[in-house]
Amino acid sequence: MPSITRRDFLKVSALTIGAVAVSTGLTGCKLTDDRAVSFTHGVASGDPLQDAVIIWTRAVPATDPATPVTVRWEVATDAEFTNLTHDGEIKTSSDHDFTVKVDVRRLTPGQTYYYRFTAGNETSAAGRTRTLPEGDVSQVKLAVMSCSNYPAGLFHVYREAAGIDDLNAVVHLGDYIYEYDGNGYATQDAEALGRTLPPENDVEIIDLVDYRRRYALYRTDTHLQTLHAAAPFIAVWDDHEITNDTWREGAENHNEGEGDFTTRKLNALQAYFEWMPIRPVIEGNEEMIYRTFRFGDLVSLHMLDTRVIGRDKQLDLNSYFTGSGFNTAAFEADLTDPNRTLLGAEQRAWLQNSLAQSNATWDVLGQQVLMGRMNLPYELLLNLGSDSVAGLFAELATLKARYLQGDSTLTDQEIARVTTTLPYNLDAWDGYFYERETILETARAQDRNLVVLAGDTHNAWASNLTTLDGTAVGVELATPSVTSPGLESYLQLNEAQTPDAEQALTILVDGLDYTNLSQRGFLVVTFRPEAVEADWRYVSTVKSETYSVDMARSARRRTLPGASNRTLQPLT
Ligand SMILES: [Fe+2]
Repeated sequence: MPSITRRDFLKVSALTIGAVAVSTGLTGCKLTDDRAVSFTHGVASGDPLQDAVIIWTRAVPATDPATPVTVRWEVATDAEFTNLTHDGEIKTSSDHDFTVKVDVRRLTPGQTYYYRFTAGNETSAAGRTRTLPEGDVSQVKLAVMSCSNYPAGLFHVYREAAGIDDLNAVVHLGDYIYEYDGNGYATQDAEALGRTLPPENDVEIIDLVDYRRRYALYRTDTHLQTLHAAAPFIAVWDDHEITNDTWREGAENHNEGEGDFTTRKLNALQAYFEWMPIRPVIEGNEEMIYRTFRFGDLVSLHMLDTRVIGRDKQLDLNSYFTGSGFNTAAFEADLTDPNRTLLGAEQRAWLQNSLAQSNATWDVLGQQVLMGRMNLPYELLLNLGSDSVAGLFAELATLKARYLQGDSTLTDQEIARVTTTLPYNLDAWDGYFYERETILETARAQDRNLVVLAGDTHNAWASNLTTLDGTAVGVELATPSVTSPGLESYLQLNEAQTPDAEQALTILVDGLDYTNLSQRGFLVVTFRPEAVEADWRYVSTVKSETYSVDMARSARRRTLPGASNRTLQPLT
């Protein structure tokens, strides 16, 4: 990683910031690049603070690529740029893939701003952004999304989110890109959709140039450009920004033939920092992204990295199946090992401290993987993907309902069928049992109103979060994917069977209140002092240009603050 040039870039950026604390107005405009320059990938903003926001673009010169490009930037309080409040110049070059990032400072809290860039005779599209509010805040609205796989479908979800005018921010929980080649995961419809990978990028991405080209491809999407121009992003990576099932020192989709994992990881993270409107927590450090955003006294949004910085290697459920059956003792010993970590000791201490220090009404964890205990009947897990699964869902749910009602006619064997359970996904918090319980206990000890946001699974979920003794500590709201296929792709359920299976799952999985097993969409979460409302919105298809928002399947839940109210309630 060229860390020296990165530092130089930051120095230029910092100097620029220092020079533009006060607006000079348009008359001070001095364009220093007379080459033709193209703004090839729209504009973006992100990581808003009360007094700052990152603005982003990419400025590519038509000639002489070895010479840096000078880009002028402007920030105004109106879309016509008549009330210009901040401006300045910054240089970019091929060292940064011609991406431009400015950390605009000395802004006003809770203010909508417009921004644009000029280079040569070219002016970029304008973007709209918003600083964080301070003090007494009556509402914060976030659009939450994840898992946007370009070859898998059209980004209608981004278009729908861009149409919401009063968003404070878009929270992207990762899998913003996918690393596979043109024959990889979820690419079977790419040709029909006109979303194949260009020949120069039809590879599993490993080198810096490959990661950069992949971001460049995704950012050609007009719906994604529209959303970036409409609202600031607050983003974290998940695994596919690096490679599938990444952990601290490796990944499922990385082998020795692909070179050193750390080199690949640093390539991926450099491209992420170049292309995403994210502010480094520590200047020059592209591995640390956990950070807090404070929306006045209403919401503290703690963005986590459950993927790269601290995660121990995932357990493999298959390795516990022996000739004589499942080795429960060995599995439980490994699963509950107090040394297993998803966050790493430093991030865990930071999060616990953040919860202890918080005085916000709502403490929100913006993070990748499901935190709720997703324990499925063992028998169901063994039969997922079989033809009989729809019937099995119904049969087991009936037994579980009788069990929950205290039906004394149930046999021991019937009870065992619904109480012998296993977590279905050890890549999630379920595989890091001790640390999950530690965080939930911290939330209880600090009397926080906890709202956990999650992505990763490609399906929608809502769960009540409790400590092991059953004390309610908060709720989990999980977004479906933008395009990546979900459980429907291997559950073997038809459209008519899906709602029944969803209902059955909420009975079979303790704590699970809601799921959608088949649709793409996103989540809108509205925080107010008196309640949080979650609103799942689904698109009818990502496989054709024509689509609609599926109002019939949209769903809403709410939760209230206070120790006795930390559960999900229906909301119509
Ligand atoms: Fe994903």
